[in-house]
Amino acid sequence: MTSALNLALAKIVPSVITDKDLIASYTSDWTGRFNGKADVVVRPQNAAQITEVVLLCKKFGVAIQIQGGNTGLVGGSVPPPNSLRPICLMSTSSLNSILDFDVVTGHITVGAGVSVAQVQSTVRARGWEFPIDLASRESATIGGLVATNAGGIRVCAFGMTKQSVAGIEMVLADGQVISNLTSPLKDNTGYPISDLAVGAEGTLGIITAVRMKLIRPTLSSTLFVIPCDSVQLAYETLLSVQKAGHNLLAAEYVDAKSMQLIMSYSQLRPLWPVPPNVTVFIEVAGSNIQLDADPRALGTSNAGEMRNFWKYREAASDSWTAAGKVHKLDVSVAVDQIGTFESKLSAMLSNFEIVTSYGSFGHLADGNLHIEIVGPAQDDYEIDKSVLELVAKFNGSISAEHGIGRAKREYLGLTRDAIDIELMKKIKEVFDPEKLFNPGVLLPD
Ligand code: FAD
Ligand code: MLT
Ligand code: ZN
Repeated sequence: MTSALNLALAKIVPSVITDKDLIASYTSDWTGRFNGKADVVVRPQNAAQITEVVLLCKKFGVAIQIQGGNTGLVGGSVPPPNSLRPICLMSTSSLNSILDFDVVTGHITVGAGVSVAQVQSTVRARGWEFPIDLASRESATIGGLVATNAGGIRVCAFGMTKQSVAGIEMVLADGQVISNLTSPLKDNTGYPISDLAVGAEGTLGIITAVRMKLIRPTLSSTLFVIPCDSVQLAYETLLSVQKAGHNLLAAEYVDAKSMQLIMSYSQLRPLWPVPPNVTVFIEVAGSNIQLDADPRALGTSNAGEMRNFWKYREAASDSWTAAGKVHKLDVSVAVDQIGTFESKLSAMLSNFEIVTSYGSFGHLADGNLHIEIVGPAQDDYEIDKSVLELVAKFNGSISAEHGIGRAKREYLGLTRDAIDIELMKKIKEVFDPEKLFNPGVLLPD
């Protein structure tokens, strides 16, 4: 079957990869924790080729695993290890053109495979700013951002990816293409069908192009790096900045264990002689703003110094990944609960013998913690389950920004109502009745 399929694919897409070793470079995720199998990799150049690939896979009963920059952290960007059907991995890497850039109104339309960094540099050169920023910017693609409704460090100022999407082109499981890329900015005519692609993690269609709304850059800002004794006190520091009426651009935290790993992984020097329990990064609009925070607080409006300070936060994810096979849990609770939740979480994790080390960092202003746990085996989800059950007790979310993927599918019911999950399954049934796209991602296969 696969050779007939491969021959047919080669007639549609110029780049079809059948070499086992080359295919293997696509089937492990960023952290090395999720590994799967694919029978072939294709890198289509446009929606027309994708339509033909979809119809061919449908005919051959082959499932499609969609992949952008493969920086996803919930096992949704690589194929499953044990698929009952052959898998065609579709990389969007060749959908890499800037399709339109309206420098007057600040809208840019790009192929789904264009990286965040490429969009950022393109728009900065013309006096605009891309509202989403995240440490995976060099590899993460715009299609992946939309599919996961990615967050990042600017959510408190400009929202999730969802808030910046102005149009989507997407290929459906029956090969049809839907698009509102060129619709008028205000088009209020019935259900916003394309919006369903946002956060669907590739389970409803293949995003081929996206129109994004840009923002004007903030002309000046001040970044404070503040030592705190606890996440609760970090939250109270944030609250005092907000009460002072500052225009918040970012509010992040890193705990002591994470900072220890960051400094050894990135060779960064300690910020203070005695490392604090928590390091808080708060950026506000305006230059040389004064804060009445801890006297040890550092502050700067100098762009180079800010970039250097942000390195301490941005290295957190990879520093934990380098520490060993880590269980990453991206969760959120009400912002004013983040301190209470974190102390209950620490008390709980310190009681598990199997946990050899743990820590957290994250987006303080969003109530979003990235919990990192080392010790349990890759496929041992017991501790993950205990943490997600604690989140549910706090009426939080088991996934703040990374999505569900295959890693958290079993736990969706912890913080989503049964009616919601029922409706998701019905929507999946309408869009992808043969479960062609991303089998096992978000919903059971
Ligand atoms: P992939 O990883 O390739 O895929 C992710 C999911 O989207 C998969 O289910 C895939 O099938 C689907 N998908 C990808 N492209 C398409 C498409 N064109 N059409 C349909 N479905 C598609 N995430 C955050 O939200 N905030 C952060 O701050 C953040 N920081 C990160 C830092 C690091 C160091 C790393 C490694 C990751 C980080 N992430 C963060 C996670 C990741 O970067 C985001 O989830 C990102 O949106 C994934 O984009 P991607 O192109 O790599 O997608
Ligand atoms: C981050 O905020 O650094 C990312 O979401 C990555 C991670 O959580 O590992
Ligand atoms: Zn994050």
